[in-house]
Amino acid sequence: MRSIREVADLQCQAMTDVDHTKPIADWATEFDHTHPEYGAKAPEIWDDLRERCPIAHSDAFGGIWLPTRHEDISAIASDPEHFSSRGAVVFAERPEEPAPVGFAPPITSDPPFHAIARRLLLPAFAPKAIGPWEAATRTICNDLLDTILDAKVEGEPLSIDGAVAYAQHIPVMVIADMLGVPKEDGDIFRGFIHRIIENPGADHDIAEEDSFDFYLDRVIAEHAEATEKRGDLVDFLLEIELDGNKLAPEHVRGTVALLLIAGIDTTWSSIGASLWHLANNPGDRARLVAEPELIDTAVEEFLRFYAPVTMARLVEKDHEFGGCPMKADDWMLLPFPAANRDPEAFENADEFIIDRARNRHAAFGLGIHRCIGSNLARMELKVAIQEWLARIPEFELHEPDTTRWSAGQIRGPRELPLTVLG
Ligand code: HEM
Repeated sequence: MRSIREVADLQCQAMTDVDHTKPIADWATEFDHTHPEYGAKAPEIWDDLRERCPIAHSDAFGGIWLPTRHEDISAIASDPEHFSSRGAVVFAERPEEPAPVGFAPPITSDPPFHAIARRLLLPAFAPKAIGPWEAATRTICNDLLDTILDAKVEGEPLSIDGAVAYAQHIPVMVIADMLGVPKEDGDIFRGFIHRIIENPGADHDIAEEDSFDFYLDRVIAEHAEATEKRGDLVDFLLEIELDGNKLAPEHVRGTVALLLIAGIDTTWSSIGASLWHLANNPGDRARLVAEPELIDTAVEEFLRFYAPVTMARLVEKDHEFGGCPMKADDWMLLPFPAANRDPEAFENADEFIIDRARNRHAAFGLGIHRCIGSNLARMELKVAIQEWLARIPEFELHEPDTTRWSAGQIRGPRELPLTVLG
């Protein structure tokens, strides 16, 4: 089985092989989800494709499909027999490790092992388990806001980066505490995640001791050797049993990696996109400040409108889907954010409606891999926005808007220059 490091290297190679300086002539036949233009204007691209070519194809990455209709995305996500999760993140080669455990269970596992690996994790992310983390999350947000506002001079505007100074830290600190790893390692995690999920295009020839695998092995060994257990998530994974046996070491390592990767860029992106929206839409901002009881519907609409996650599948065998000839080992992207903008599935899909009453969005996925961390993500997003608005009710985007949205499979603001007013 490939190590996490090898998978990251293959993905980086795939990303750097693509020429990102050339504009894309036609998104229907040569789309590239790692192109900066996709990061900047993905919603327009989905709307265009949904109208004229709802399942786009490109030869990039050895053959890849991009469905844009809710109905198709839902059907594919519900059909693990034809679309396997053994490759959840796209790279030029194909993952070689066989099911069942896969590289990061349960997200890279297929049935029947998927249900077993998923069931093990559910209690740790149930509402009852997440509730007690809310107070700590509020403290984290307020500590960050204290640091930001330290530089504020009464009556003068203050320039800050909402993604870098605020949004990115919240999920890192929360999941670090839950797992039982040092919060101060935040920069280290983000480095690993950047290599695995984003488009680094940078030299990734790093020393073994600086690799994600090495880090994970160290954290797990420290937990295993500790005489006093702390009851954190790593201890939980080391203690639980499957058919009377402890989990295989690669299962524990893959799941710790998954929890670090799955919860950080995703939630960072959602918090950042929500701040971007509130900075850019003073009417919604004023309304949420005046009517704080709207926070729950606002959070669902932030998740729908700015859904950050696109997952991938591998086509299992040659077959036709939606009139398209799928070949075994083609990549299939599942752009849940595009499903959320489909007018067939949502009334006024292209409008942000802060008190949208019916909102069965797909931000947390559709089908058997639906997000396990949704209770935690919702709590973090709600608390992050509530605490921000309580301390910074008046803010706007820098003029001109210099926000940089990430391309690739997780979309969100990575640089979000804001002006704090008042
Ligand atoms: C706003 C934040 C988040 C979004 C939008 C999000 C979205 C998603 C999506 C779309 C999937 C489905 C993947 C697929 O179909 O292949 C997923 C799965 C998953 N997510 Fe999240 N996620 C978020 C936060 C989190 C957090 C905070 C955690 C936990 C730390 C987490 C843990 C997981 C896990 C373990 C899976 C795999 C479930 C399975 O394979 O059965 N996520 N997430």
